[in-house]
Order: sequence, then structure tokens, then C-alpha cells
Amino acid sequence: MLTKTNVQACPFARDLIDGLSSMPKSLPCQWLYDQRGSELFEAITELPEYYPTRTETKILAAHADRIMSAIGPQAALIEYGAGASIKTRILLDAADRLATYVPIDVSAEFLIQTADDLRQTYRDFAIQPVVANFLADITLPALPEHASRTGFFPGSTIGNLSDVEIQHFLNSARQLLGASGHFILGYDLHKSADILIPAYDDAQGVTAAFNLNLLVRANRELGTDFDVTRFKHQAIWNEAFSRIEMHLVSQCRQSVRMNGQVFNFDVGETIHTENSRKFTQISIEQACLTSGWTVQETFNDPDNLFAVALLKAN
Ligand code: AVJ
Repeated sequence: MLTKTNVQACPFARDLIDGLSSMPKSLPCQWLYDQRGSELFEAITELPEYYPTRTETKILAAHADRIMSAIGPQAALIEYGAGASIKTRILLDAADRLATYVPIDVSAEFLIQTADDLRQTYRDFAIQPVVANFLADITLPALPEHASRTGFFPGSTIGNLSDVEIQHFLNSARQLLGASGHFILGYDLHKSADILIPAYDDAQGVTAAFNLNLLVRANRELGTDFDVTRFKHQAIWNEAFSRIEMHLVSQCRQSVRMNGQVFNFDVGETIHTENSRKFTQISIEQACLTSGWTVQETFNDPDNLFAVALLKAN
């Protein structure tokens, strides 16, 4: 059980108390990714309705040679929020004599596993994992001298960030990657709600389980007493903000307790758990303009579902 003093030391507890005390209620989406949440997200990427992962993979496979030759030989590839994913391998395979691959992730355990896996395949360049939250300040290890630096931020994870966070993130990346830097940015495109809603509310209920797992996690880690059967997953298309919102909707009037604190829910009241923003080429170009980057080239799939932009430092 959490005591008053260690609530302050537990970021999840602090975010939960803040988020459930706010109007409307919300929780930062980073808490969706415990072990189970990460497994459920993996399952989402394989759903027929969830087009982003497979579409981005196809775009990268079609254009990796062009992207990596624009970057030039002996570069350092720095991945923000790294995976041992198939997308990473597509770029590594297309690189001309890469100097080093630097995956950045908050999970040390995951990073060590990733690095070990990659070292089995790739022996001609260094693999230098960094344990860090990529939204905070990053300190890189000593990289091979003269290596130009390229950031890689796939998956439309940029869509989880607010405008202010995007500016901060792109500015910091520009500082870190330097005047000869490049950045490979994957982002999801604005499109019809008929495609978007099923992608975030699939027929098999995997996304619902992913969202509801947040409450299961809070019960286990923070000792809350959420009755998970009394909340329902909801995906909303918010056209004004060009974003999919995930919510957990209270099915009745109820209260939830943590550490003697009580949080009351009305019928239909929601906890807003994620924003997944959808961009246009113009909105991305604008975000780049004010953060030291220029869009050098944009790659799309034939149906214009998703985009990969190659940015160059100004
Ligand atoms: C990992 C943030 C890119 O927004 O599409 C998938 C997360 N949420 N289904 C996305 C997610 C619900 C995903 N990102």
C-alpha cells in the first residue's frame, strides 16, 4: 500500500491523483505501457483495422535506400523510443557503412534485449543503447568522431504530444543532432472517421483491453479499487483538434478509492487516456519551420494513409 510520503515519490500515483482530481478527468498515455500494455499494443499493430504500423513499414521498405543515401555514409542513427522492430532493421539494412545505432528507451531491460538481438545480426557498427525518457534531456555516449547524426521517430508517436511538446521535442532533437543532422519522422495523416474509428475501436476488442488495462495496472500498482467491469472503452474523433481521443467511460455513478482519497464519477463521465493526433504535410512543415528543421522529402503510401518525412537541419 502507498503511504502519503511515497505517493510523492511515485510518478504514476501523482499523475493519477492529479488526473482524477481534474475536470475533465485524464491520465497521461505513457501509463498505458506496462508489460501487459506493451503486449496488447503489439497485438494492436497486427489488427486488420490498425493500418499505421504495416503502412509505415511498407513506406520505409519502399524508400529506405533513398532515405539512407540522402543521409550519407558513416552516420549515427539515433532512435527515439526504440524498438528492435522490423522498421529499425529496414533502415539498418539500407544504411551505407553506419557508424553506430543508438536506441533510446525508458526500459533498461527492453533496451538490453534489443541491443543483444541486433548484435546477433549486425557486427559492422556499434550499438550504444541509452536509457532515457526521450521527452526529457538526453545525454549521448561518445559517438564515433565525424559521424553525422540522424534521428528516427517512427510510429506516429509524435501524435501523442501537444503542440508545445512537439516544439520542445523537435528543438531538443535539433540541438542534439547538430547542423549536419537529419531526422526521419513517421506521422499519421488526417483522414475519414470511417477509417480512424475502427482503427482505435477494433472488432476483437484488443484496443478496449489496452485502454482498460490502465485501471488494472492502477489497482495492482497503486491499490486503487477500480471495478474494471464498470468502465467502457471509447474512441472519439475530434475533428477540431484533428485527433483520436481514447476515453474510459464510467457506466454508473461510482466512487474509486486510493489511500483514503475518494474520486467520484457521474454516469457517463470519462477519463481521457490518450490523444492520437493526425497531421497534414503542411502542419508538419509548420512545426518544423519553428524548430530548426526543413522537410527535405515526404514519402507516402499509395492510399495516403501515413507519411514518413525526411528532415534536414537548417
Ligand atoms: C503508439 C501512440 C502511435 O496513437 O496509434 C494505438 C497508440 N493507441 N491504439 C497510436 C495506440 C490506441 C499508438 N501510438
